[in-house]
Amino acid sequence: MQKNLQQLLENLILWLKYQRQAGIDEIPIQILAQIRQIDMAKEKKNIPSKGPGDNLSSIKSLSQLQTLVEQCELCELARTRGKVVFGEGNPSPILMIIGEAPGREEDIQGRPFVGRSGELLTKMLRAINIDRKEVFITSVIKCRPPGNRTPSKKEINTCMPYLTRQIELLCPSIILCLGGIAAQSLLNVTKSLSSLRGKFYDLNGIKVTVTYHPAYLLRFGGMKQKDLKRKAWHDLQMLQAEYEKYKKKTTG
Ligand code: URA
Repeated sequence: MQKNLQQLLENLILWLKYQRQAGIDEIPIQILAQIRQIDMAKEKKNIPSKGPGDNLSSIKSLSQLQTLVEQCELCELARTRGKVVFGEGNPSPILMIIGEAPGREEDIQGRPFVGRSGELLTKMLRAINIDRKEVFITSVIKCRPPGNRTPSKKEINTCMPYLTRQIELLCPSIILCLGGIAAQSLLNVTKSLSSLRGKFYDLNGIKVTVTYHPAYLLRFGGMKQKDLKRKAWHDLQMLQAEYEKYKKKTTG
C-alpha cells in the first residue's frame, strides 16, 4: 500500500511537471480523480508472477523491463538466440497480442511477428479494422527456440515473469492469445486450444481470448485450412466486437 502510494505520488509529480512544461498551470479536479481511477485499475490487474522467484515489481517502466529482458541469461535459449524479441507496439494498448516464441526472422530482426506468420497476423488484424500500431505484440518466450521447436515447460516458467510484468505495465483491456502455448501459459490451464477458443476469460480484470496461431493456419491446405480459417474468423469477429466497445469508451 505504502509503495503504491509512493508510486502514485511519483507519477503525479512527473505528470504535473510535464503539464507545467506544456504551459498548463491549472489542473481541473476531475483529472486528478481520473488519475486515481487509472492507478486503481492497474492495482486491480496486479497479476501474480510465476516462475523461479522473479520479483519484477521494482521494474517501473517498459523500457527498464526491456533492458533487463535483453540481458537475460536465465535459460539455455540465451546461448543460441540471435536477438531477444521483447515485443513492440502501443505502450497503452486496448489490445495486447501474445504469441508463442520468436521464429527465424524475428530472431534476426529482434521484432515480433515479422515473418510469414506476422504477415498473416497483420492481415487478420486489418480484417477486423485494427492497425498493428494500435496494439502491443509479444510472445510468451522472448528468445527463439532452436529450429522453432516448442518451448519447454522450464523455459516457459523462466520467461513467464517477464510477460506478467509486461502485462502489468501495459495494462491492456483485452489480451488475444495466439495458439495453445500462449493460452495455456497465461490462463494456467492444460486444455486444448480448440476447447479454449471462442470465449472470453477473466484474468484479474483483463478479458482474455484465444485463437489459432497464424503459423498453424499456414500449415494446412484444402478443407482443413478452410475450416480453421472459418473458426479463426469467428474468434476475430468476437474480438472485434469487444475491441470496439473499449475503443468507443476511450474515444468518447
Ligand atoms: N510466432 C510467435 O509466436 N511469435 C513471434 O514473434 C513470431 C512468430
